[in-house]
Formats: sequence, C-alpha cells, structure tokens
Amino acid sequence: MRTQIKKAPQILELLKTKSIGMQHCKTTSSVCALKSMDAVQVPADGQGLASIPGPTNWPLFGSLIELLRKGGLKRQHETLIEYHKRFGKIFRMKLGSFESVHIGAPCLLEALYRKEGNYPQRLEIKPWKAYRDFRNEAYGLLILEGEDWQRVRSAFQQKLMKPTEVMKLDGKINEVLADFVDRIGKVNVNGHINDLYFELNKWSFETICLVLYDKRFGLLGQNVNEEAINFITAIKTMMNTFGTMMVTPVELHKSFNTKTWQDHTAAWDHIFRTAKVYIDKKLKRHQKDSSDDFLCEIYHHSRLSKKELYAATTELQIGGVETTANSFLWAIFNLSRNPRCQEELLREITATVPAGEAPNARHVKQMPFLKACLKESMRLSPSVPFTSRTLDKETVLGHYILPKGTVLMINSHALGSNEEYFDEGKQFKPERWLQEKSTINPFTHVPFGIGKRMCIGRRLAELQLQLALAWVIREYEILATDNDPVEAIHSGTLVPSRELPVAFIRR
Ligand code: HEM
Repeated sequence: MRTQIKKAPQILELLKTKSIGMQHCKTTSSVCALKSMDAVQVPADGQGLASIPGPTNWPLFGSLIELLRKGGLKRQHETLIEYHKRFGKIFRMKLGSFESVHIGAPCLLEALYRKEGNYPQRLEIKPWKAYRDFRNEAYGLLILEGEDWQRVRSAFQQKLMKPTEVMKLDGKINEVLADFVDRIGKVNVNGHINDLYFELNKWSFETICLVLYDKRFGLLGQNVNEEAINFITAIKTMMNTFGTMMVTPVELHKSFNTKTWQDHTAAWDHIFRTAKVYIDKKLKRHQKDSSDDFLCEIYHHSRLSKKELYAATTELQIGGVETTANSFLWAIFNLSRNPRCQEELLREITATVPAGEAPNARHVKQMPFLKACLKESMRLSPSVPFTSRTLDKETVLGHYILPKGTVLMINSHALGSNEEYFDEGKQFKPERWLQEKSTINPFTHVPFGIGKRMCIGRRLAELQLQLALAWVIREYEILATDNDPVEAIHSGTLVPSRELPVAFIRR
C-alpha cells in the first residue's frame, strides 16, 4: 500500500514539464506588487508567456536534463525551490513537450483565487478517464470537469466540508484509533516499529473504508483477510500502472492492449466490483433511514446516479489514504525532534480530555496547540508539494498575460519553506499559528490546495490527524533515536529518505 499514491497526478504532471523564456517579476516579496494589476483584465505593460523567466530550455528536452542532473524527479521539489529563488515568484519550465508555469508567492495565489471561474480544472488524469469510458463507468471528483464536477462536488460538499457534519464522524475515527494505539503497543520492539509508514497506511485505509463503506478490513489485527489483501493489491496495481500512461499516449496502450493497459483495467475492474458491493450493502442497510449514514444521506438528498456515487466514493477512498498517512508520519517525526512541543501538547491533552475518556471532536475544538502542531508540521513537511490548474480563460497574473490552456503549478512546499513568509522557517514552531496578531498571509499555507477545487477531504483528514495525535501523544512519548538529517524524497507524496528514527515509549 505504501506505493499506492506513488504515481499521483502531481508528480506525473511535472514529469512532463520544462522551461523557456526569461524575464523578471522581482524575486519574492511578501508585499504583493500585483494588486493594481489584478484590477484590470489586461495590463497595459502586460507580457506574454514567452517573457516569463525560467531554466534552460533545450530543444526536445526543455529542462529535463538539468532537472535530472540536479537529482532527478525525486529531488524535483528542491530544484523547484531553487528555481523560485533564482527566477522569482513565477517561472516557466518545460519537461519534454510539457510546459507549465510555476507560482510560489501568496500574491499570485490570491490573484489566481480571485479570478477563478466556476469550474477550476487540474491536469487531466487520462488513464483513469480512458478506463471509465471503456467500461462505461462515471468519473469522480479527481477527474470530473465543468458542470458535472460542480454537481457532484455540491452533493458531497455539505457533508465533507461542514465542520459540524465532519465532527459526527469522530466515533468511527476513534474506533480505528483504539485499535491502532493498541497495535503500536503490540508490534513495537523496544519502541521501534518496523515500517511505520506501512502501519500508518493501514490505519488511514481502515479509517476511510469504515467512514465510506461501514466496513472493517481488520488490517490492524493479526490476521488480515484475503478480501482486504486483494482490494489493496488492486489499488496498488492501479496506482503503479497509470504513471506510464500519463507520459505515453493511453490510446496507444489501449489499441495495442499492452500489459500496462490490461493490468490497469483489471485493477480498476476489481476496485469497482468491490466498492459497488460495499456501497450497495450499505444503501440497503440504511434504506429506511438514511439520516444516520453520511454516504446514504448524500445519495438520497442529491440527484446523483448510482454510477456517479460509485465513482465518487471510490475516488474519495483513493484520495484519502496515503495523503493522510503521510501527514501523520511527518507529524510524528517533527514532534520526535521537538520534545518541548510534545510536553506542551501532552499538557493540553491532559487538561482537555478527562482521564479514561477517548479524545473526541469536541475536545479537539478546545485544543489550539494541537491544531497548531499539525498545521506547522504540514507547513514544514507537506505531503502533497504541489497541485495544478489548467487555465480555462486568458488570465492576468502579475505582469503576465497567460493564455487559456496554460498549466499552472501551485507550489505549497516552496511557499511553506520560504523564510520571507515564515520567520525561522526551518524550525518547527507551532506557536507561530497562535499569535493574536498573526502576520501570516493565508495564501502561504495551502497544503490542501485552494479555491473551489481544494481538497474535499480536508476537514475529515484534519480531524483524523488531530485525533490521532491526541491518542498517540497521550499514550506514548515519541523519542528521536538519532539526530541525523531525514530528507524528503518526492514520490507523489513527499516521503522520508529513510525509516524514521523514532521510538514509541509508553508513558
Ligand atoms: C492530509 C491529508 C490530505 C492532503 C494533504 C490532501 C491534499 C489534497 C490536495 C493538495 C488536493 C488538490 C487540491 C487543489 O487542486 O486545489 C486534493 C484534492 C482532493 N482530495 Fe485530498 N488531501 C488529503 C486528504 C484527503 C481525504 C481524507 C480525502 C477523502 C475523503 C481526499 C479526497 C480528495 C479529493 C476527492 C480531491 C479532489 C477534489 C476536487 O477536485 O473537487 N483528500 N487533496
């Protein structure tokens, strides 16, 4: 499962990129130099795409060779930060034939946000679309566009983005957390957990499946059943096969019925077959009263077809596993290196959650330091370093007039690690989020994306992570077992370069 999201769209999008042009847009300034520009459609001195600065742009390869020399795709997040330092808030890059414009400044994000149309688009995940068209299945939120995207998004928005609705899911989240904390106690050897990331993936998979399908897979127990293994294997295969078809024409794979296409199709067949069984069972169970189940309520109160419900639910599941596990992993790491913050956090947990009670969503509301720790961890170590937008109309950003169809990369990693926006930005300082008169520009912290198309699972993920931290920190002290650097490697999500040097010591 750890490779599940390995070939997530964000990376593959980049795989295809490169550069061109040259030009200014002064190096990052937190004072938005763009405000006057934003008021007009096309600035008098506006310049075209070609004038945006960027790295070397060789024929055919663009910046691919330079990117590979700088450590390759695994280090692309660092290279992109270096390019932002060199070229400023905005730069243009080409990898092979794929061209994109990278933005890494709050003023540009704000400008983009204010100009956003009704149906923002990300880069297409063509292999997923090809499968759905092939089998006559629907699209989910990750690949839908236009009015259909808006319709499905509205159906889920209320339940998933409204805090009071998400709070109702704390019982299910806690059911899995109780097993998870128990499991840490059983599987650790002198505090060390073998393949912690895999354990966290099991936790997040188990949680999202309980929320969506009302189904426990038993991944945190001793004997994992075959059904679970097959389901997880299918998701893994699907994720491992779509990358190739993002960078080579999927139509060719389909026409020649390549092994990649066959494996991808068989994997999706399994995923859809399984998800449909669980969803149908659940709809049947809650036929008389849908109000006590969030998925059934969505179905009965929207005009979604069954097919749309299947596709949207499946994509929620896929979008929510590794991202959440990865964020928890980095939070554990950051806390292990900051014992003072752990103590402060433990104090807050003990003062808020009565002994013998499980932490719940109401408790979390009264724990500002807990929330700040998570926010700070996601700033310092975001799991998804960038997202994308394909402009659906000519758009003015800063001094540039970007044509319709331009692919923008929004770099939350570059924003979060920029010392210009965050004092002592390399330090883990949750307190920075608690200052009464905070000077932090909200557009510098976008680990869940921005605007109408931001992550729909955000509130659920936040609650899951906040509760997980509360459970774990209450039971265990997380010790750093060495202080050598742990680097981030780009693998769809940003993953640690080595097994985390942490130990869980029972309090
Ligand atoms: C810490 C955990 C998570 C992180 C860091 C994360 C991050 C992201 C990001 C960066 C995007 C792109 C947003 C944009 O383009 O502006 C996204 C989209 C999405 N995420 Fe998440 N996500 C997380 C958890 C979840 C969970 C738990 C779910 C499912 C319940 C989920 C489902 C989705 C879906 C369906 C989309 C596409 C939304 C749309 O296009 O309308 N994510 N996520």
